[in-house]
Amino acid sequence: MTKRKRTAVLISGRGSNLAALIEASRDPSYPAEIALVISNVETAEGLKVATAAGVPGKTISHKAFSSREDFDAAVDAALMAANIEIICEAGFMRIHSDGFVRKWQGRMLNIHPSLLPAFKGIRVHQQVLDAGVRVSGCTVHFVVPELDSGPIIAQAAVPVFPTDTVETLQNRVLAEEHKLYPAALKQLAEGRVVLREGKVVFLG
Ligand code: GRF
Repeated sequence: MTKRKRTAVLISGRGSNLAALIEASRDPSYPAEIALVISNVETAEGLKVATAAGVPGKTISHKAFSSREDFDAAVDAALMAANIEIICEAGFMRIHSDGFVRKWQGRMLNIHPSLLPAFKGIRVHQQVLDAGVRVSGCTVHFVVPELDSGPIIAQAAVPVFPTDTVETLQNRVLAEEHKLYPAALKQLAEGRVVLREGKVVFLG
């Protein structure tokens, strides 16, 4: 097997997608290893997930920096120090500077809890319920400078029921996220999906 790709997961909170990625990478044949977790929030639950799994976790608070660029430079330095090759954003609540996104383009993924391009931004499940749509889901995409707008690698759909609350819908979508993200990272780490001229290309 070729060398596993050293992957960092960027979080700000709960870390259930982080847990799913770590779980997938326990299989020695999985092509990525979760080598670093970076949180911009010291109290993020996901840091405990990292510790429990023996994955190095690091807090880099955005509050310690006066600009987005300086914060991203600190994040980038931590990634480089750990020889990271792929970034997975999983509930990371900061927008990156264009320079950071350019540097990592084609190697940085995000997961979003809707069927993009519908329902970008925050409070996504509330947006979905307010709109009254009958199908929602989740999307894994390459990160580009514009928020929640990168080329799409994979999506999964779930039904939206009239009785749904934010919580019930969120749980249904999260169950799909936890399958979709490890599958998409696998494709990227194996070189079976690439970003070429702003489009996702699948290579067999
Ligand atoms: C997920 O719904 C993800 O799609 C969104 O933020 C949430 C993070 O959840 N970007 P968790 O921290 O992975 O549990």
